[in-house]
This record gives sequence, structure tokens and C-alpha cells, in this order.
Amino acid sequence: MSNNEFTVETKATNVTWHRPAVSRQEKEKLLSQRGILLWFTGLSASGKSTIAHALEHELYRAGYLTAVLDGDNIRHGLNKDLGFSPREREENIRRIGEVGKLFIENGIITMTAFISPFRSDRDKVRASLGEGNFIEIYVKCPIEELRRRDPKGLYKKALAGEVKEFTGISSPYEEPLSPEITLDTYVNSPGECVQALLRLLREWRVLNRYTSAGETGTVAA
Ligand code: ADX
Repeated sequence: MSNNEFTVETKATNVTWHRPAVSRQEKEKLLSQRGILLWFTGLSASGKSTIAHALEHELYRAGYLTAVLDGDNIRHGLNKDLGFSPREREENIRRIGEVGKLFIENGIITMTAFISPFRSDRDKVRASLGEGNFIEIYVKCPIEELRRRDPKGLYKKALAGEVKEFTGISSPYEEPLSPEITLDTYVNSPGECVQALLRLLREWRVLNRYTSAGETGTVAA
């Protein structure tokens, strides 16, 4: 794949933007929620997918509509043509940002779990969605712990040189400078991280039917 293949230029001409018959606000009212993109970023095996799926389950039980876009799964389909060079990761994140935008325009609480190692790529998604639509969640864990966890055996392979350009070993990870929230998965359990996110969603007025049994209580419809 050439390095310039993903220079994104607008090729489509003679296309018209159609306004939806049912607005985002109408859909959000129907769902009693606000569409928002919860952008999980962090090294492989830090806990992004685990926490996103646990949060989704909690929100589902409380009657909220969510979607999770997960790096490994999306790379089996939509982005199966992309590898792990910086350019391909950039394109991976650009596409996910666009898909996330489509979801939130339909009022859906959308979670993305991608390493998304480059600050500029994450910032572009943030800028394209606009204020109030994007929450950056830094899922943080020391690399020594990740090498110990190594659920897919990829750190071992990367250290042996069998996987090239592996994030944290042979490819960089740029930490978020001012994420809306940092979850430390070395210290906190997935359940504690989910509770912290529920508190944040309440502060951001994403869940309009939210009631809590207490600071650490579960969500109730
Ligand atoms: S990203 O950098 O473009 O955001 P993404 O989240 O889609 O990455 O995919 C990361 C997942 O792909 C990892 O969890 C891991 O399972 C797998 N993977 C395979 N090769 C690599 C690599 N070289 N670097 C990072 N992850 C890799």
C-alpha cells in the first residue's frame, strides 16, 4: 500500500445533502437520551473494549440505546483493508469518526474502542463533531502490566520482533493532553470505571431518565 493512498480528497461531485425527515432532536426525545461519542483511547489490552461493553450493558439494562465500535471487530469488516502504518491508522480513525458521527446524529450513545495512538487524529474527530458531542476517555495502564496481561500474546510477539509497528513497543502512543476523563485500569476495576463514566454521563446530561440509588448506585430507568 503506497503511503499516499489515503490522502482524502473530495471526488464526488453533483451530490446533494438531504436533510433528514426526522431530526436528531426528535430522535433524542424519543430515546430520552443525547447522542454522544465516547472515544476510548489507550494501549492494547488496557481495557477499552471491556469497559465499553460493560458500560453498554449497564445502559441497556436502564433502557438506553448504545452502540460499540471496537477496533478488532471493525478491522474484520469496514476497515479490513487497513494495516498499522501511521497513514493507515489515521484512515482507520477518520472512518470511525465519520461512522460515529452518523450514529450520534441518530441519537445513539456511541462508544469507540480503538488504540487511536495519534493525538492529531483524535483531535480531528473532536473538531469535526463539535463541542458537547465528544468525550475523550483515556484508558491508562502501565506498559509493564500490559506485557504481563498480554491476552492475545501480541506484546510477546512484538518484543520478539514478530509483530511490526506494535503500539507501545515499536510504534508510538501519544497520551491525551486533556481528556475529559482518565481511567486507571491498573488501580480500578472495570466496574469502578463504569461507575465513573455513569457519573460523567449524568453531569453531561446524556441520560435524561437517569436516577441513581446513590453515588455508586446503578442506573435505573
Ligand atoms: S489503531 O492504532 O488503528 O487505533 P486499532 O484499535 O484499530 O488500532 O487495532 C488495535 C488492535 O489490533 C490491537 O488490540 C491488537 O489486537 C491488534 N493489532 C495487530 N497488530 C497491531 C499493531 N502492530 N499495533 C497495535 N495493535 C495491533
